[in-house]
Amino acid sequence: MQITEAPLAVTVVVGSNRHGRFGPVVADWLLDRMRDRDDLAPTVLDVAEADLPTTFAPTTEARAALSAVTPKLAAADAFVVLTPEYNHSYPAALKNLIDWHFTEWRAKPVAFVSYGGISGGLRAVEHLR
Ligand SMILES: Cc1cc2nc3c(=O)[nH]c(=O)nc-3n(C[C@H](O)[C@H](O)[C@H](O)COP(=O)(O)O)c2cc1C
Repeated sequence: MQITEAPLAVTVVVGSNRHGRFGPVVADWLLDRMRDRDDLAPTVLDVAEADLPTTFAPTTEARAALSAVTPKLAAADAFVVLTPEYNHSYPAALKNLIDWHFTEWRAKPVAFVSYGGISGGLRAVEHLR
């Protein structure tokens, strides 16, 4: 008997929304490698897609913006969070994306890909953990 499994739906969260950001270069590198594998079905959720303000609770405008990205988290079996390091941590918009969802993340595995200056994003990933 042959067991066939559907590819794992992996949402790659691009954490930087800075103008002139380097993030898409790293995301393309990662996606190239993921697409080589038949067992992964990657989807990209770019925090720049949703204009997430840095308020503590989502504003009405932010709730509307979130409706476009929440389904990509909900549909994922697993996540790869791609993050740069800003001032020894990760970007504010990524924090909002995390804080403003709950069940969408729950009980799903997450991996991290980081980049940055001298530490390569090590401290950003430490905060995310
Ligand atoms: C506001 C700001 C703060 C930064 N702080 C750090 C830092 O603490 N450590 C580090 O290694 N790199 C730091 N960097 C360098 C960034 O990690 C690097 O420029 C990275 O490419 C930024 O990602 P992005 O271009 O996708 O936004 C900082 C960059 C910015 C813009």
